[in-house]
Amino acid sequence: MLRRSFLTVLPILPAAAAPSRFLVEPYINLGEAPGGLSVVFHTDLTASAFTVRGVRTEVMTIANPPHLVHEAKLPLEPPFEFEIQENGQTVYRARVKTRRAPRHRFVVLGDPGQSTNGQRALAELAKSLDPDFVFFGGDMVYEYGRVSDYRRKFFPVYRELFRERLIVGAPGNHDTDESDFSAHPDAYAFFPYWRQPGNGPLLDTHPSLKGNPSVRDAFLQSVGGRFPRALNFSFDFGNTHWTIVDSNKYANLRDPKLQDWLAKDLAAARQMDWRFVGIHHPPFHSARKHADEQQSRWLAGLFQEHNVDVVFSGHTHNYQRSHPLRFLNPRQDKGQLVKGNILPDPQGRNGVVYIVSGAGGAGLHSNFFPAPFTARTEGRVHSLSVVDIDGRTLKFRQIGAGGREIDAFTL
Ligand SMILES: [Fe+2]
Repeated sequence: MLRRSFLTVLPILPAAAAPSRFLVEPYINLGEAPGGLSVVFHTDLTASAFTVRGVRTEVMTIANPPHLVHEAKLPLEPPFEFEIQENGQTVYRARVKTRRAPRHRFVVLGDPGQSTNGQRALAELAKSLDPDFVFFGGDMVYEYGRVSDYRRKFFPVYRELFRERLIVGAPGNHDTDESDFSAHPDAYAFFPYWRQPGNGPLLDTHPSLKGNPSVRDAFLQSVGGRFPRALNFSFDFGNTHWTIVDSNKYANLRDPKLQDWLAKDLAAARQMDWRFVGIHHPPFHSARKHADEQQSRWLAGLFQEHNVDVVFSGHTHNYQRSHPLRFLNPRQDKGQLVKGNILPDPQGRNGVVYIVSGAGGAGLHSNFFPAPFTARTEGRVHSLSVVDIDGRTLKFRQIGAGGREIDAFTL
């Protein structure tokens, strides 16, 4: 007689998953206040009191109960370990691996959140690269920047990566320029989810916040001063300085308030080894898609004057690298076209290198036109950028979702 092991007669039960306390699990942002890093998480447990504390330190920060997206600033230099307590019980513990040293690695990718195999493959690749932080160049989720889409197409995809590493994000058109509160009451998720430095200028132009006024009022109350200030900001990381600029169509990139802030911000970073800019719309690119959106060119003069090394963008869903270039005599043409003299320096380093790293997951744009300033294009595979900073040396690689190296250069 066939003997059956006791295992075979046990009923098959679904795995007993512990109920999660989190609608969005904790992730790491720069935080609004200077210094340290922020732990951010989203819950709907209004009756719970959450405490976030660094493990083996005296530091303790209580998250602010009225906001269901909680931010707790830990004034600790990473790496550090932290835990979250709910009503006195530890419910979460993680170690932040990010190191803000002159030697560090970061990953750049844009336009990811469309739940594609490419997006998921790049999430795995990014984790395997063990970066100190990831910069997202905008259009985090399609189509309308909604909380519900972040919870399906963004946070779960990068779960392992986000547990341990800082993430930084720039606003794209699908984050802050395509939404409407009547059609999407949970739109403009950029503002509650991204907790980034509040050191940008307060501008007269901002997203339109179209649609249902009562939803809009509730949104404004919940995000407080982050709207609209969160759209432009800057930060230092090790020996590098980053400036993030909102290039959406509602913005006026010729606004003296914005240009003054940018000039001062870049001038103050003169002593840093590296200056980087993150801006969703690429000032210079040679993709046929979005070729007529050139508004970011109004800032090129400031980039070159203040010795910005690399500008990282997305928006066109491909990879592109320019030769170092200068842009002179800008003048307005039709619509968002900005004409002028583009002076590439293929053999030298006279000018700014413009990288488009927008092949982070969404449907690819693979048609290009020949342009003398373009050094390399790739629009047939999803890809990300990985940058190794070692003092005054920068090593750049563009890697495809399958692991193939698409491009590499050293500055
Ligand atoms: Fe875009």
